[in-house]
Amino acid sequence: MKESYYDFGLVGLGVMGRNFILNVADKGFKACGYDLDTKQVNALVSEGGDPSKVNATDDITKFVASLQAPRKIMMLVPAGKIVDSVIESLLPHLDKNDILIDGGNSYFTDTDRRESYLSSRDIYFFGAGVSGGAKGARIGPSIMPGGSKSAYKEVKAIFEAVAATFEGEPCVAYLGPKSAGNYVKMVHNGIEYGLMQLTSEIYDVLKKAAELNNEELHELYGAWNRGRLQSFLVEISSDIFSKKEDGDSKPLIDLILDKAKQKGTGKWTSQNAMDLGIPVPTIDVSVSMREISALKEQRMAAEKLYPKKMPEPVEKEKLGQMAEGALYFSFIMTYAQGMHQLSEASKEYSYELDLATIAKIWRAGCIIRAGLLEDIAIAYQNDPELENLLMASSFTDKIKSTLDATRELVAYGVTNAIPLPGLSNSLAYFDAYSSGRLPLNLIQAQRDYFGSHTYERLDKEGSFHTEWE
Ligand code: 6PG
Repeated sequence: MKESYYDFGLVGLGVMGRNFILNVADKGFKACGYDLDTKQVNALVSEGGDPSKVNATDDITKFVASLQAPRKIMMLVPAGKIVDSVIESLLPHLDKNDILIDGGNSYFTDTDRRESYLSSRDIYFFGAGVSGGAKGARIGPSIMPGGSKSAYKEVKAIFEAVAATFEGEPCVAYLGPKSAGNYVKMVHNGIEYGLMQLTSEIYDVLKKAAELNNEELHELYGAWNRGRLQSFLVEISSDIFSKKEDGDSKPLIDLILDKAKQKGTGKWTSQNAMDLGIPVPTIDVSVSMREISALKEQRMAAEKLYPKKMPEPVEKEKLGQMAEGALYFSFIMTYAQGMHQLSEASKEYSYELDLATIAKIWRAGCIIRAGLLEDIAIAYQNDPELENLLMASSFTDKIKSTLDATRELVAYGVTNAIPLPGLSNSLAYFDAYSSGRLPLNLIQAQRDYFGSHTYERLDKEGSFHTEWE
């Protein structure tokens, strides 16, 4: 293996890593992979074909030596302790100004810790969220890098070449210092949880209220994907409804257990939103629903105890229109919550995020890509200080025109015992955010009553306490 020859190194040759490095090589950069597992190394070598373009080894010394200085090494390994152990194994071989990139879903405070540890050794560290799954890694993901701005110029050309493009613009941009990239990817995943929950609630109500079969669901989601709901998650849902296993006449979706797993990024989004004091109720409840889904046996037992009536039938076309409006409304609420969280995090952690840029790099390649992101990018471009997407003039008509459909659908779910927590929390978020007066004056009075916590008043300035009893 030639020394100081390859432009880019990649550690972790699982499916994501292998696909990413093949993508890099396709774009004309010479790339070398490293993995302890010789099977993975051999898989890349045979898939890569020409070793002068892409090569791989299980020898860390040869791997690092094969890279041109300053070395650019990306890790695509599972988040957590493995990242630290890969860093430790690389460190003795690295030189000043080399660049390490963590492409996994690492928790942002871990990235901050690693960045300061490595900068004390004159090594640059980037936390770069990569979205788009295995296929995205191969043909063009959305990449969310954060770290040293001056070192970014060393990796910019490679990232821009491998990223997805939207109307010619690459879906990657320098997002901010330290853990900005990982943070943005975490919120991306929180939004992903919200959109997934919403699309599954709509599927539930369409099946239960109008008995749409999988073929009809395939058609309807497909039609929505050609309209204002155009998005990766609606598109793949349409595909999913039509999938049958070879030789089987039963749609695969009907054979899949209704328990959703999670690796934690949605939960982190909710937890951190709570820390920041930013409401993201659609995301919160999407995490809760994955937890409830895991309680399959308890749910089955409870269903026997509390049997449900048959839902009142609704005419298919009417329900389809209501569902489309409610889904569009709730998608807006989910993005609004995620963007609000990002704007607050930007202040709290000094990320200096540009929300228009973030919306732009989400327009293609990533899991939450959707036609709506173009409108969101324009809204933040027109007003970078926008406090909440709900306040953008370009969004008021979109919201007002879908509000009735959302209310009707949520009311139907409540009356007919179909759980629609993502949709109803999106609606409640909107109703609360747009209420000039909420009943939380009573909470203040209660706090003062039992704990002398004081309250503020509408009619005069200051803090007040009352002897209530
Ligand atoms: C992406 C995905 C990706 C991963 C999710 C799955 O953007 O490509 O978000 O990172 O598939 O993290 O998350 P859960 O296992 O938590 O659903």
